[in-house]
Amino acid sequence: MFYLECINCNEKYSHLDIVYTCKKCGDLLTVVYDYDELSQKINFSKWKKRVLSVWRYKELLPIIDVSKVVSLGEGGTGLYRCARLEKEIGVKKLYLKNEGENPTGSFKDRGMTVGITKALEYGVKAVVCASTGNTSASLSAYAAKAGIKCIVVIPAGKIAYGKLAQAIVYDAKIIQISGNFDDALKMVFKLSLERGDIYLLNSVNPYRLEGQKTLAFEVVDQLKGLIPDNVIVPVGNAGNISAIWKGFFELKKLNLAEKLPKMFGVQAEGAAPIAKAVKNGEETIKPILNPETIATAIRIGSPVNWKKAINAIKQSNGGAEIVTDAEILEAQRKLAKLEGLFVEPASAASIAGLKKLVENGRISRDETIVCVATGHGLKDPDTPVKLLGGKTVKINVSFEEFKKILER
Ligand code: F0G
Repeated sequence: MFYLECINCNEKYSHLDIVYTCKKCGDLLTVVYDYDELSQKINFSKWKKRVLSVWRYKELLPIIDVSKVVSLGEGGTGLYRCARLEKEIGVKKLYLKNEGENPTGSFKDRGMTVGITKALEYGVKAVVCASTGNTSASLSAYAAKAGIKCIVVIPAGKIAYGKLAQAIVYDAKIIQISGNFDDALKMVFKLSLERGDIYLLNSVNPYRLEGQKTLAFEVVDQLKGLIPDNVIVPVGNAGNISAIWKGFFELKKLNLAEKLPKMFGVQAEGAAPIAKAVKNGEETIKPILNPETIATAIRIGSPVNWKKAINAIKQSNGGAEIVTDAEILEAQRKLAKLEGLFVEPASAASIAGLKKLVENGRISRDETIVCVATGHGLKDPDTPVKLLGGKTVKINVSFEEFKKILER
């Protein structure tokens, strides 16, 4: 069995009650299992008999009855060796975990399969989230599959079109606010505390993060038991880096991993409160009131999971990096051009961050590196078309003209 525990005061909470943060001190909660019992039951060869997916690791997921799981086939995403990009950046072993291959095109689906199943277990009337886009797309899809009402609150005019289109078609109730993501999160948090029958599925919900930690299990599985030296993750609200770290940490606890990777978080220049704190050796973050970046997915000034993320970075002896919008876009193009992988700007931040981390000696060139590409490039088709559309050529229907153009 499992229970929730406060990361600050260690207060414990039963899995039977809906609780998001500690009622005593207000800090974040985490899911704790009986690791001694689990270590007798599980190992990678047993898991290998199941398909590579979030639910391959069901023993380490907080669901009472797995026959009731709401699934769209999440997880099992590709881990690609990037030989051409390795040469470009000057590293020896670079892999990309392509989370855009998830059912709604982002890593959020790993969390939502668990989160929505939990919502059904609790018997709530509706689910709600604030979002920079992907969370709303994912939650809307899983809510549709489960047949439960879904409310999403998004910053008006600031989410990529692909994501908005998804939430519209999955038929969520979409509320656009004039503020940013941080304002939206405050509103939905308040609503879920006032209304016990509306379940919050932002990453402050510790159960959602349990689904997301399976990325770590898959990486180790795909590398045939090898633990990468470095894992690089784009950071917004900071749930994913915390979840992935928990995944590796649990493997070690269960004697399924010999060592732990260093965790590196990458943030965009205009929205980098965690990276700034880490770089300055500060214990807490200073929220940013007006976050801004072309990578709208990580346009967050007051990340709710900052403490878990800083813990992950510190405990793992990792680090943080800040990248500009120009560096993000360059990385997006390089990844597409050299590896055939089209990821959204926020995802490319991990590659942009890697380049800098290698250049400044924080990551050694011959270590194994896994970059997490969090979302599919088609989520945000406007950005490349707007910026690079001029590269296309228009001609008349004339074979002569066609040949002339090719000769140029
Ligand atoms: N990459 C993408 C593509 C995202 O959509 C997000 C977060 C992140 C990275 C950062 O992950 O928040 O766990 O640190 N998107 C959220 C959303 C905030 O609403 O879709 P994080």
